[in-house]
This record gives sequence, structure tokens and C-alpha cells, in this order.
Amino acid sequence: MVKAAVLGASGGIGQPLSLLLKASPLVDDLALYDVVNSPGVAADLSHISSPAKVTGYLPKEDGLKNTLEGADVVVIPAGIPRKPGMTRDDLFKINAGIVRDLITGVAKYCPKAFILVISNPVNSTVPIAAEILKAHNVFDPSRLFGVTTLDVVRASTFVAEVTGEKDSRSIVVPVVGGHSGDTIVPLLSLARPPLSIPTDKCDGLVNRIQFGGDEVVKAKDGAGSATLSMAFAGFRFAESVIKAVGGEKGIVEPCYVYLPGVPGGDEIAKVVGIDFFAVPIELGPNGVAKATNPLGSINEREKELLEVAIKGLKSNIDKGVEFASAEPAKL
Ligand SMILES: NC(=O)c1ccc[n+]([C@@H]2O[C@H](COP(=O)([O-])OP(=O)(O)OC[C@H]3O[C@@H](n4cnc5c(N)ncnc54)[C@H](O)[C@@H]3O)[C@@H](O)[C@H]2O)c1
Repeated sequence: MVKAAVLGASGGIGQPLSLLLKASPLVDDLALYDVVNSPGVAADLSHISSPAKVTGYLPKEDGLKNTLEGADVVVIPAGIPRKPGMTRDDLFKINAGIVRDLITGVAKYCPKAFILVISNPVNSTVPIAAEILKAHNVFDPSRLFGVTTLDVVRASTFVAEVTGEKDSRSIVVPVVGGHSGDTIVPLLSLARPPLSIPTDKCDGLVNRIQFGGDEVVKAKDGAGSATLSMAFAGFRFAESVIKAVGGEKGIVEPCYVYLPGVPGGDEIAKVVGIDFFAVPIELGPNGVAKATNPLGSINEREKELLEVAIKGLKSNIDKGVEFASAEPAKL
């Protein structure tokens, strides 16, 4: 039996993500929480002929508690999205407080759940989540993930457009670092199958993967950022976690984790000099089974990209940790 909870379920990401979770035979119980409209979204989804029972809660009448009690997987797309001209970091002020409060609920009502953070800026909201969980003495680094799957999905799609490959799913590109602009480091040199893209085209491709979100923000012209592709990516990651917890072996997804606390992570943390970083993660019954280190064999250009990413990440991480200690959760 798997209970999944979506926090921010009425939003642009939340609704299609909840639809995909409702359609999945891997989910038995789906609880939706938002500050608006979640009972409506739940009523709508409940007519779909799939196994999951769907409930929707608002903050009133212990809504967050009812959503989270018994949850195995909690997916968090709550918060404001970007408008043209905004960076993911500009979202910090509002989304940091939202994530802090929702994670406080997770710490209280389902401390063993796998937590999938989508709310931006992921580079900072995941460190905030870790600090809040630590304050409640329930931090298990193997169960806290920043969802960077959209960068991985974009990498496969954009590479396929250049190579002419019809099925982009057959292209696997490790994407490491963080989840904003130049903190995103696609490792094209390690793509499988190996790519033969001229070096001058590689730079453009890397830039498109790093700033792919801007294409959507611009095209939506004030109506938000990526929602449908993010719902696809968020569901893919949630499904991977659920499958691995259920015993399926060999599932690897890059995601943003607290390296010193996960198997294999310490060695990578020493190389990059920061604690939160996305690398390909082998998933298992307890969340992270093993962090793998692809950095030993990257090329010179990728080393330069990595250096820039680490610098940006360091300040994003510090910002999250500072926020959590300056405005701690109400225990
Ligand atoms: N990780 C990624 O790759 C990625 C990709 C795209 C967007 N995002 C981020 O996801 C977040 C959501 O984006 P969106 O386009 O769905 O935004 P949206 O505004 O359409 O939806 C956000 C939802 O969160 C709800 N919400 C706000 N405060 C809440 C609270 N305290 N508790 C519960 N729900 C609350 C809102 O009512 C709304 O329904 C943004 O931060 C966005 O930047 C992440």
C-alpha cells in the first residue's frame, strides 16, 4: 500500500502531477493539500477509474495533518512560479517560508516519508528542508530529494533534437550540480549512447539545458513557468522512488541530495566542497542506496562549468541554511 501526498496540489504543476499519480496503479491512496481548491481537484480526480482513493484538504480542520498522516511519499510543488525577468532565486522570499512550514508538517506527521521537493529555488529549499528536519530530530538524508529530473528530461529531449534520434528516452545524460541556470551541469561527455556532437554545438546545447526553463517562462508570457513538463518529470521521479522502495533494482535518477549523509556521498562532497549537490543516485528500499560519482572522467570544459556551478550553489545553500536558522520552524 502506497500513500502519496501532494502539497500545492491545485497549482499548475500540482494538478497534472496529481492526475499522473491518480492514474498510476502504484498508488493506493492520494491525498491532496493546497491553500485553495484542493477538495475540488480531489473530487474531479476521484471519478477516474483507477485504484487510488483521493482526498483533498485545505489548511482548516487539521488539513495538513490529515493529508500527511500515513504518507509514504510527499511531493511538494507549492509556491509561486517565475514570471519573465525573475530568476529562481527571486522566488526565495516567499517559497522559503512555504517550504519551511510544509516540512514542519512532514516532520510532525510523517517523519519517515520520502520527501520530493519541487518548489524553487530547489538549491535553497532543500537545505531549508534539511535544517527543519534536523531541528525536529528526524532528518534522514536518504529520504530527502530535490527534484532535478526536469533538467535530465530536457537534456535527453534537446540532445535528441540535435542528433536526430527519434526516441529521446534512449538518450541518458547525467546532469549534476544544482537546479538553476549555470548551477545545472549536463555531462554530455558521459551521455549514453556516446554522442558525436561537434564541440561548438555542445556549448549551445549545454546553455539550452541550463536555461531551458526560460524558454517556457518567456513563451507563457507572464502566465507562469514549466508545469506540464515538470509534472511529467516529477511523476517520473516519484514513480522511480516508489518502484525502488517496492524492491525494483537498478533504478538510477540524478537528484539533489545532502551528500555527507548518503552512502557514497562523502567522497563526492570532498571533491565538490559543498554538502548539497545533484549526482546520479541509485534508489533502493530506504531511498538513496548509493550516490555515484561521475566527476572523475569529465572533460576540461565540464570542469569549468562545474567550478561555476559550485560557486553559485555555495551561496544558494548558505542562503537556505541562514534562512532556516534566522526564522526557525515553530516546534
Ligand atoms: N523543480 C523544478 O524543476 C521546477 C520546475 C518548474 C517549477 N518549479 C517550481 O514549482 C513551484 C510551483 O509552480 P507552479 O507553476 O505549479 O505554481 P502555481 O502558482 O501554479 O501553483 C502553486 C500552488 O501552490 C499553492 N500554495 C501556495 N502556498 C501554499 C501553502 N502554504 N501550502 C500549500 N499550497 C500552497 C498555491 O495555492 C498554488 O495552487 C514554483 O516554486 C516553481 O518555481 C520547479
